[in-house]
Amino acid sequence: MTSVTSLTAQVQQRLANALTATRPEADADPLLRRSDRADYQANGILALAKKAKSNPRDLATEVVGNIVTGDVIKDVEVSGPGFLNITVSDRAITENLAARHADTDRLGVPPKDTPGITVVDYAQPNVAKEMHVGHLRSAVIGDALRGMLDFTGEQTIGRHHIGDWGTQFGMLIQYLFEHPGELAPPQDVDGEQAMSNLNRVYKASRAVFDADEEFKERARKRVVALQSGDKETLELWQQFVDESKVYFYSVFEKLDMEVRDEEIVGESAYNEGMPETARLLEEMGVAVRSEGALVVFFDDIRGKDDQPVPLIVQKADGGFGYAASDLTAIRNRVFDLHATTLLYVVDVRQSLHFKMVFETARRAGWLTEHVTAHNMGYGTVLGADGKPFKTREGETVRLEDLLDEAVQRAAEVVREKAQDLSEDEIQERAAQVGIGAVKYADLSTSPNRDYKFDLDQMVSLNGDTSVYLQYAYARIQSILRKAGGALPAAHPELELHAAERALGLHLDAFGDTVFEAAAEYAPHKLAAYLYQLASLYTSFYDKCPVLKADTSEQVENRLFLCDLTARTLHRGMALLGIRTPERL
Ligand code: ARG
Repeated sequence: MTSVTSLTAQVQQRLANALTATRPEADADPLLRRSDRADYQANGILALAKKAKSNPRDLATEVVGNIVTGDVIKDVEVSGPGFLNITVSDRAITENLAARHADTDRLGVPPKDTPGITVVDYAQPNVAKEMHVGHLRSAVIGDALRGMLDFTGEQTIGRHHIGDWGTQFGMLIQYLFEHPGELAPPQDVDGEQAMSNLNRVYKASRAVFDADEEFKERARKRVVALQSGDKETLELWQQFVDESKVYFYSVFEKLDMEVRDEEIVGESAYNEGMPETARLLEEMGVAVRSEGALVVFFDDIRGKDDQPVPLIVQKADGGFGYAASDLTAIRNRVFDLHATTLLYVVDVRQSLHFKMVFETARRAGWLTEHVTAHNMGYGTVLGADGKPFKTREGETVRLEDLLDEAVQRAAEVVREKAQDLSEDEIQERAAQVGIGAVKYADLSTSPNRDYKFDLDQMVSLNGDTSVYLQYAYARIQSILRKAGGALPAAHPELELHAAERALGLHLDAFGDTVFEAAAEYAPHKLAAYLYQLASLYTSFYDKCPVLKADTSEQVENRLFLCDLTARTLHRGMALLGIRTPERL
């Protein structure tokens, strides 16, 4: 594996050196950015001049004299009040890209030296309940964040904190106890049957629960039996969990997403640790008794009439809830999994819950300066009409129906364009295009914003969609196939066209972009990068003939740019969890 330092980082280093050589006492940032006028512009001299009380243009000229040019930097010129315009050499661009091309796996991007361990809490549906679009967002965003973090060298551990515990199970279990055999064994059902069985049991038990006071009482006793670990009760509870998992797995498979059994660690897993969590918090004085309950107060969290709103660790009746399970999970993730970062991909509507949970854990010393927690609170999924996503009848849309419809729409698009694809291939591509479209639409929006679920827009071939990117990739593959004997090969001696330079400099920025997007938990930055890559490729392709270029070196060098573009698109899309079919 070769690790390649990006041109941006190299130019940055050279400028920093020149600044130090000019004003050794000043610790100035060159403030480098990509620019349209030259390749880069540096604005940092203005601030330095102000501090040093010198004329910025004079200082800039002095700095230029100290910049090492010739190899990477071809030309530097002072512009405006004291900016530097920097142009890098064609040779440096091609050589850098060639080194990336040689590293098929990582495109020359080195993993970080001191990785941490991030526990990512995402894709957390609830047992015996249908998944909805909110669960879709958590799954898609969480999976992409993991992909990007893994690529930077960070070690990620997934935790699917499924809702598999709580008083609602009393009613379900009691019903199953009185009507054995209502749930088929999990190995005998597919996802859809599993969910319809669960729905049936849920409706039937609800009906009895609402109508029959004595059943209600038996259900309440069942909750106590569940919490005290009664064997028979736990076995019935397990049946609900197993049946639900069949359903979850079928949805995750449709989503083309790997979910590992050992990472499904639901609320119930923390049941045993909850009394200890409560004891520790009470002993440390972080939690206090109030009207029989064990609670934590916060100065800045108040409700109606300015009354403080506490976090309830333990209810007055001794029961534990959602907060206790999250606090216990934090102890597990910090002390047993040795996490350095806890990342929660959960609907923004739970942000107050997490604010209180994190603050409590900080007061307890479980979260510190070195072990931090973040909630990537994502916004609501809206329909094309801008209102929360519902069916025309006002019901929640079933996730599977939504995904099926996306695939169906994609099939229409693929079929229309397909030239030499068989029906089987069309169906396979349709799944990759349809699911990719759903994921990309979500990921290309900043996660904390609401986003519109608009299938027409998602599968459109024009604009910022995954289909557009997938077609760009497939077109490159088709050019590479048509090249006959010509193979991609870099020729650093060749002069580059402006469109080649723009594409090349963007290709060089892949690693920097992934690192930035991962550090900021911002998959939309990677999506925007990939979209721009496809656009720069399109203008390169319009302006620079590839197979019909003037010389065979020129043909090879352009094929090489095509190939590296394809690999970068493929890699980037894969990090987001999206496939790039070879032919479309
Ligand atoms: N199961 C919850 C829900 O559907 C989300 C769980 C989020 N994770 C957590 N650690 N609380 O709303």
